Amino acid sequence: MNLETHFERTLEKDQRIEPRDWVPDAYRATLVRMIAQHAHSEIIGMQPEGNWITRAPSLRRKAILLAKVQDEAGHGLYLYSAAETLGADRSELTEKLISGRQKYSSIFNYPTLTFADVGVIGWLVDGAAICNQVPLCRSSYGPYARAMIRICKEESFHQRQGYELLMTMMKGTQAQRDMVQDATNRWWWPSLMMFGPPDAESSHTERSMAWKIKRHTNDELRQKFVDMTVPQAEALGVTLPDPDLRWNAERGHYDFGEIDWAEFKRVVSGNGPCNAQRVARRKAAHENGAWVREAAAAHAAKQAERTVAA
Ligand code: 3HC
Repeated sequence: MNLETHFERTLEKDQRIEPRDWVPDAYRATLVRMIAQHAHSEIIGMQPEGNWITRAPSLRRKAILLAKVQDEAGHGLYLYSAAETLGADRSELTEKLISGRQKYSSIFNYPTLTFADVGVIGWLVDGAAICNQVPLCRSSYGPYARAMIRICKEESFHQRQGYELLMTMMKGTQAQRDMVQDATNRWWWPSLMMFGPPDAESSHTERSMAWKIKRHTNDELRQKFVDMTVPQAEALGVTLPDPDLRWNAERGHYDFGEIDWAEFKRVVSGNGPCNAQRVARRKAAHENGAWVREAAAAHAAKQAERTVAA
C-alpha cells in the first residue's frame, strides 16, 4: 500500500495518525497552524487573569486563580510539544507569535476590569473552550487528540470555578451583582467570536473536517455553546446582552443576534483593545527569560560531554 493510501485508510477507519506516519504537507501545515495558535492562546491567555492574582479578594481565591493560570501554562507546553512532533521548532513558533506572524485567540485581547471578569472568563471563555475542544479529543492527529483529553479535564474545572465564583457574587451585595452583569455584558459577544468566522467565510473548515482534524463547523459549535449557556445564565440570574436571543421551538435551538464581524476582524488583525500590550508583555517575558534558556542549554551540553567522556 502506498503512503497516501495508508493515510486515507487510517482516516476512513477513524484511527489516529501518529508522528511516524506519512502525511500530506498541507495536513501537517494545517495542524501546525492550528496547534501553534492554540498553544499561543493558552500562553497569552495567562495575562488577562494573571492581572488579578495579586488583587484576589481572599487567600482561597488567590490559590484557585494561581492554580488556574499555571494550568494554562501547562496546556501551552503540551501543545508546543504536540507541534514539535510535526517537525515544528518551538523557538520559531514563539518568534512568530511575538513578531505578530502567528495568531492567538481573539478573546485574550480584551481587558479584565474587575474581579467578576475572573468568574465570567471561567464561565464563558472556558465554557466556549470546552465546547470547541471536547470534539478535538477525537481529532485525527494522535498527539493533539491525547493532549486535548487532559486539557479538557482541566478546562472543566476552570469552568466550574468561574461559575461557583459568580454564584457566590450573585448571592452577595447589589454592587457585586452589578459587577457580574457588567462583566457578562462585556464578555458575551467576544466569547461567541472565539468559535471563528461564520462557516461561509471559514477558509479551513471544509478541508479540516475532511481530514477529521475538526469534527464540527464553527457555527455548529457556536450554536451548541449558546444553547448550553442560556439556561446557565438564567440559573445565575444574569441577562445575556442580546435582545434577539430567544428559543426557536421549530429549530430546537436558541436564535441569537448578529455578531459584530467587523470587530472580530479588527481584533484578529492586531487592533483589539489589548493586542499591543499582550504581545509586548510576552516579548518582554521571552527576552527576560533568555538567561534561563542559555543556562539550560549549557547544562544540557555539559551533561552530554560527561556522557561521551564516560
Ligand atoms: N481568534 C483568532 N484567530 C481566529 C479565530 C479567533 N477566535 N477564529 C479563527 N481564527 C483564524 C484562523 O486561525 C484562520 O487563520 P489564517 O487565516 O491565518 O489561516 C482564520 O481565522 C480563518 O478561520 P477558520 O475558521 O478557517 O480557521 P480554523 O478552521 O482553524 O478554525 C478555530 C478556527 C475554531 C479557532 C480552530 O482553529 C480551533 O478549533 N482551534 C483549536 C482551539 C483553539 O485554538 N482555541 C483558542 C482558544 S484557547 C483557550 O480558549 C484557552 C483556555 O484556557 C480558555
